[in-house]
Amino acid sequence: MKHISKRFPGILANNDVTIQIKKGEIFAILGENGAGKSTLMSMLFGMYEPDEGEIFIRGKKEKITSPAYAGKLNIGMVHQHFKLVSDYTITENIILGLAGQEKKWGFLPYVDLRRASKKIAELSHNYGLEVNPDDIVGQIGVSVQQRVEILKMLYREAEILIFDEPTAVLTPQEISFLLQIIRKLRAAGKTIILITHKLAEIKEVADRCAILNRGRLVDVLDVASTSMQKMANLMVGREVSLTLQKKPAEPGKNILQVENLIVYNQHKFPVVNNVSFAVRAGEIFAIAGVAGNGQVELADAIAGLRTNITGNIYLNGKNIKNLNIRQRTAQGISFIPEDRQKYGLVMDFTLAQNLILKSYYHLPFARHGVLQTAAIKEYSRKLIAEYDIRSSEGGATVVRQMSGGNQQKAIIARETELHSELLIFVQPTRGLDIGAIENIHKQMLQERDKGKAILLISLELDEIMSCADTIGVIYNGQMQKIAAANTMTTAEVGRYMMGVKSDDEQ
Ligand SMILES: Nc1ncnc2c1ncn2[C@@H]1O[C@H](COP(=O)(O)OP(=O)(O)OP(=O)(O)O)[C@@H](O)[C@H]1O
Ligand SMILES: [Mg+2]
Repeated sequence: MKHISKRFPGILANNDVTIQIKKGEIFAILGENGAGKSTLMSMLFGMYEPDEGEIFIRGKKEKITSPAYAGKLNIGMVHQHFKLVSDYTITENIILGLAGQEKKWGFLPYVDLRRASKKIAELSHNYGLEVNPDDIVGQIGVSVQQRVEILKMLYREAEILIFDEPTAVLTPQEISFLLQIIRKLRAAGKTIILITHKLAEIKEVADRCAILNRGRLVDVLDVASTSMQKMANLMVGREVSLTLQKKPAEPGKNILQVENLIVYNQHKFPVVNNVSFAVRAGEIFAIAGVAGNGQVELADAIAGLRTNITGNIYLNGKNIKNLNIRQRTAQGISFIPEDRQKYGLVMDFTLAQNLILKSYYHLPFARHGVLQTAAIKEYSRKLIAEYDIRSSEGGATVVRQMSGGNQQKAIIARETELHSELLIFVQPTRGLDIGAIENIHKQMLQERDKGKAILLISLELDEIMSCADTIGVIYNGQMQKIAAANTMTTAEVGRYMMGVKSDDEQ
């Protein structure tokens, strides 16, 4: 890619970027949220065309005008947000767009599902990507969906494989599995482009790493001879600290108290099973657990998103179990949900509107039922500056067009500014760059030190170990262990996460 520039309204997303990627290498791309990584790769995959610059594939200049044409050039991409049809089977998803190329009796176009399934089974076997081709995509977990995306590329005989933040949605075990697959693909002669925010992953698999900063290429580094600290500093453009400095908590009274909470799912199955714990003012209580063990449902139940529950939830001594979501917010709960696009934002509203989603109905944003545009604008200007939310047109940007990381920053700004006594953070740093993670952790600590109670739910054990004052480990809907963070090692927490009971140890 030579001298590539791409402009969106109000922003130069790529600014004169030149990179060369060699056959058979794993080439990582690192950069802050909004640095232009996805945009650059979307042009290689034919989703956008560059405003300036040229793309050469195998030495030949190409105008990649569509993903279909990229496919012809043997280029495939797994997107940051998957693009599968949930009502179709795995096979149907994989052949979607290729179908109808076979002809029965020489003239009738038809789809040979059986042959497709066979080829898929072969590919799965060769690369260790086990799937059941007849499963419906909507009923399989994200890590299997990702395998489907990879198989889809392989089925199309992709030689250049682009992965846009493939590990953001995976558990640690799934991540190491994916990295193995990526190595296997390299061994088979494929060329891999890997966008990720995780330096450890780059260190583990990548050969070279390009660093983007605000649309510009900063450097291309040889991974083996570059330290993680140097990569981090280059990408953020300042010295970042990879470890969190914090003083011991000074916990006060109980703010949140959960008693014998049971949360039922739609099949009346208790996904949270008789859980009790308390979060005090001035502490970070973190819930550790492997994905899918009830932690999300627990957070939803406290915030009021799930009502099929038994047990009690006290906020400042008052039972809030029967209050609706707005009432709970007003009582002092801030909530940063796991799925930012579905539950955290209205994607087609502007940034300014999203920043007042929970306070638009009262002063200073509404007066006698009329929205106060000036106050709303002023407020969004303030938050954008304070929380470093980057977008092309400030408060007027439609949230859908913002980069994933900046969408997350917007939610955190809105929720922190409610000044609630309890803040629930569910996976607050997923998909964020190191600089942004550092800022969010610092903000969380600041709120703690102001005396707020913080409930942190995270799949990242590193995040739990560095932020938590108290750790609760959840397994299969039950609390396995609750203890002060400094009394447990990472390995111990890991064991409880796998289902070891606290009394098994004695
Ligand atoms: N379709 C679009 N319309 C308008 N602006 C866009 C569009 N796509 C991206 N942008 C803007 O271009 C810039 C680069 O975005 P891009 O998605 O490439 O960032 P990124 O490096 O992938 O970030 P992240 O790590 O958060 O995914 C951002 O400021 C974003 O708001
Ligand atoms: Mg991106």
